[in-house]
Amino acid sequence: MTATHGANPLRDAADRRLPRIAGPSGLVIFGVTGDLSRKKLMPAVYDLANRGLLPPGFSLIGFARRDWEDEDFAQVVHDAVKEHARTSFREEVWQQLSQGMRFVQGTFDDDEAFNTLKSTIDDLDKSQGTGGNFAFYLSVPPKFFPKVVQQLKKHGLADQKEGSWRRAVIEKPFGHDLKSAKELNAVVHEVFPPNEVFRIDHYLGKETVQNILALRFANTLFEPIWNRSYVDHVQITMAEDIGIGGRAGYYDGIGAARDVIQNHLLQLMALTAMEEPASFDADALVAEKTKVLGAVRLPKDLAADTVRGQYAAGWQGGERAVGYLEEDGIDPKSKTDTYAAVKLEIENRRWAGVPFYLRTGKRLGRRVTEIAVVFQRAPHSPFDHTATDELGQNALVIRVQPDEGVTMRFGSKVPGTSMEVRDVSMDFQYGESFTESSPEAYERLILDVLLGDANLFPRTEEVELSWKILDPIEDFWDKHGRPAQYESGTWGPAEADEMLARDGRSWRRP
Ligand code: BG6
Repeated sequence: MTATHGANPLRDAADRRLPRIAGPSGLVIFGVTGDLSRKKLMPAVYDLANRGLLPPGFSLIGFARRDWEDEDFAQVVHDAVKEHARTSFREEVWQQLSQGMRFVQGTFDDDEAFNTLKSTIDDLDKSQGTGGNFAFYLSVPPKFFPKVVQQLKKHGLADQKEGSWRRAVIEKPFGHDLKSAKELNAVVHEVFPPNEVFRIDHYLGKETVQNILALRFANTLFEPIWNRSYVDHVQITMAEDIGIGGRAGYYDGIGAARDVIQNHLLQLMALTAMEEPASFDADALVAEKTKVLGAVRLPKDLAADTVRGQYAAGWQGGERAVGYLEEDGIDPKSKTDTYAAVKLEIENRRWAGVPFYLRTGKRLGRRVTEIAVVFQRAPHSPFDHTATDELGQNALVIRVQPDEGVTMRFGSKVPGTSMEVRDVSMDFQYGESFTESSPEAYERLILDVLLGDANLFPRTEEVELSWKILDPIEDFWDKHGRPAQYESGTWGPAEADEMLARDGRSWRRP
């Protein structure tokens, strides 16, 4: 196994003179005909190759039911790369990459197909020099995870041989609740050792998310005020303008809270709230994140301090949008949430009494993900109160996407003869400060899997603690009523505004 668990993501990102290049290896994608594979995984593999970060003989095997030959598969990858890759298409890179592409046709219970997969890997080891090092990417619905890992075991594909590695890469959602996540962890760990299991939370692969750690721990400016003495509350928003598109089969019955709060938003919260880790290796990071997740306290009154919503018809981007219950493939009586907001607190010395408001939704006003740390008002103001009538609270906003950067909001004197103070902002924009564009999250994560670098992957403990937070909320929702309706293209149900208004606060309009 490559011993890179101690790698430092901050140093790696900053030091372009030391590119981290994967050693001999290959990737097998299960569920290769799906959307994720076409839009994210295949382009990410090409982008890595184009940046010179993959080994010369890198191999990509697709596994699916389609009746494809290797050439058909290569053509699909080609088209996906042309359409979705971040970097420009270069024929010589493509020619080299496509040498190592193979397709294996079969279903997950098809023993013959897994035998073929095994012989394909053995052949690639010889022809492409992949060295027996393969990662198996499970981009399949969670109900198939156990079957696929058991098949890998049965056919000797998960055997860790001396001097080489076999890894499992598992897409979210990891389970449906705490119980199923534990069962899944047990099945996966029976086959793969914990350090060879990489659970994907693609938010952790985003540059702006990694920058939370740089912002907090590479500077002196923020950390002294990053606590209950100065922070009034924190708002974490992940808003999307899209609906569920063609994902009815996946989404219905899962909903917004399980789809993104359990993973992306709780991870953002953990990174925002955690103590400084002793180092930036995976163990130290996990230790700090799990302390935060373990200290989360749910609101006493779940009816008042959690909200779920479902989009109704409306207007989105100038077009008429149908409501969730009218979407193709959705049960017209579905109670699935497409919007969720929760108020959480963290019971520790740093954060006691500071609410963390998390919200996410589909078909909202616009696509934006941000973390807003909102500070308390100045304890005393020497100005006449009319001077500060229009002054809001100071805030530090980490803009995760799409307009990546950081904004600081504070009060400033309006030019003129009288003293009037108004909000202004100071802005850092990635696009202006750096010339290179940020790699896609999946580029970073696939590279890290091949390098065996586990820093950006949630561990068992984190996944289970996150379900522990969400389970009581989901149970409560199950038993009480239906989601509130909100018009597509708006900022969610009125109940979510009321939830903050009761605390004397309001959601930011990002
Ligand atoms: C996925 C969710 O994890 O994240 C999707 O399953 C969501 O429902 C997507 O649309 C959003 O990702 P991003 O990177 O576009 O914010």
